[in-house]
Amino acid sequence: MLSYQHIYHAGNPADVHKHAALAAMLDYMTRKDKPLSYIETHGGRGLYRLDAPEALKTGEAAAGIGAVADAAALAGTPYRAVLDEIRAVHGALAYPGSPLIAARFLRAGDAGHVAELHPQEHAALVAALKGTPLKVHRQDGFGMAQSICPPTPRRGLMLIDPSYEVKAEYARIPREIAGLHAKWNVGVIALWYPILTGGAHVPMLAALEAQGLPGALRHEIRFPPVRAGHRMVGSGLFVVNAPWGLEAELDRVAQLFGG
Ligand SMILES: C[S@@+](CC[C@H](N)C(=O)[O-])C[C@H]1O[C@@H](n2cnc3c(N)ncnc32)[C@H](O)[C@@H]1O
Repeated sequence: MLSYQHIYHAGNPADVHKHAALAAMLDYMTRKDKPLSYIETHGGRGLYRLDAPEALKTGEAAAGIGAVADAAALAGTPYRAVLDEIRAVHGALAYPGSPLIAARFLRAGDAGHVAELHPQEHAALVAALKGTPLKVHRQDGFGMAQSICPPTPRRGLMLIDPSYEVKAEYARIPREIAGLHAKWNVGVIALWYPILTGGAHVPMLAALEAQGLPGALRHEIRFPPVRAGHRMVGSGLFVVNAPWGLEAELDRVAQLFGG
C-alpha cells in the first residue's frame, strides 16, 4: 500500500534543487529545433497548494521555495519563470510539480509520458495535465520506462524521482538505470535521491558510479533538517548524459541553501 504523498514535501529545499535542474535541462534541450521525448517514472499530482493543511503541517515549503523564491540566485532562471507563470494562473501559493514544469517546455512534436501509481495522485495528475502533450500512465514507473525506451523521438530526458518508501528501491535503481541506458544510450537520465542521516543512498551511488556511465554528473546540496528530528539533510541528483551548463546552474541553486 502506497502511503507517500508529495503534498507534505512539495516546495521543500530538495524540490527546489530538483525542479531548478529539470527546468534548466529542458530549457537547454528545447533550444534546438529537434523534437524530444520527456519521460517521468514517478509523477506525483502535478500541482500543489502550499496553503493545503498537509503542506502547512510539515512547513517544508517555508524552508524551501518560501525562503528562496525571491533570492537573486533564482532571478532570470527557467525555474523562476515557470513558477511565475504557474502562479499567475493558479495563485501565489500554487507550486508546480515536475510534470507540470516539463509540460511548460514541451512543443508541438515533442512526446511525454508520466507514470503515477497512487489512485488519487494519478487522478489529480490527469486533471493537472489536461490539455498538455503529456500522457499519464497508471502503472509502475520503471515498467513504463523500460517499455517505452528507446522512445520516439529518440532525443530526450527521463526524470526518476521515487518516494524511496520501499527500501529495496535503492538496490533496484542502479539495475534499472543500467538497463535503460543500454536501450537508450543518447537519453539524458536524471535520478533524484535524498541525503539521509543514515546514508542509505551511499551504496546506490557507489553502484551507479561503478557503471562508468557517459557524461555522468553527481550534484548534491546540503541543508539543515526542515524540522527537529527530520532525517533528510540534503538532496542529490545523478544525471547520465548531463546537458551542457547544468553543473553551473546547479551551483547557483546550492548558493541558496549555503552550499
Ligand atoms: C517524490 S513523489 C514525485 C514528485 C514529483 N516527481 C515532483 O517532483 O513533482 C513520488 C511519487 O511516486 C508515486 N509512486 C510510488 N511508487 C510508484 C511506482 N512504482 N510507479 C509509479 N509511481 C509511484 C507516489 O505515489 C508519489 O506520488
